[in-house]
Amino acid sequence: MFTNRLLRLVPALAALALAAQPAGADEFTKEDLADWQQQFKSVMEKGEALFHSSDLGTNGHSCDGCHPDAANTHPETYPKYQQQIGEMAELRDMINWCIENTLDGEPLPLDSPELLQLEAYINWERRGVAMAPGKH
Ligand code: HEC
Repeated sequence: MFTNRLLRLVPALAALALAAQPAGADEFTKEDLADWQQQFKSVMEKGEALFHSSDLGTNGHSCDGCHPDAANTHPETYPKYQQQIGEMAELRDMINWCIENTLDGEPLPLDSPELLQLEAYINWERRGVAMAPGKH
């Protein structure tokens, strides 16, 4: 029966789950933690500098002109339907929308370090805000 077939799958699934687990994934030292926090801080601070610079566009404006301290960026509401884009969007899609439409710049490639830096900074500024995906 169906249940029996499922039960026979259990050992195979357990083996797969174990194989997928990287060795020692749960173990880390205080030094590791300090290193990871430093890496986050360094990326986030680059994002902060970009957010306050006019380098992302061509009209001399910067993100902070309209979003001081990342105000009204609402990273906690993503992914959500975005009217400007006309479909479900991620935070990075709206970052690029603003680069194109408010700074007259070229959208950043989705795998660019700059996009990651901006996301890190925006999320850092809104830390502690409750997650609310899909919210308007
Ligand atoms: C000239 C003003 C202006 C500038 C400069 C600007 N934005 Fe925006 N931004 C807006 C407006 C207007 C919206 C649309 C608000 C809406 O309806 O969601 C918006 C929306 C956003 C959103 C989505 C907010 C939400 O509520 O979902 C993000 C994220 C964002 N901007 C990031 C940026 C970043 C990053 C930059 C710099 C690259 C930037 N913005 C530059 C005006 C600006």
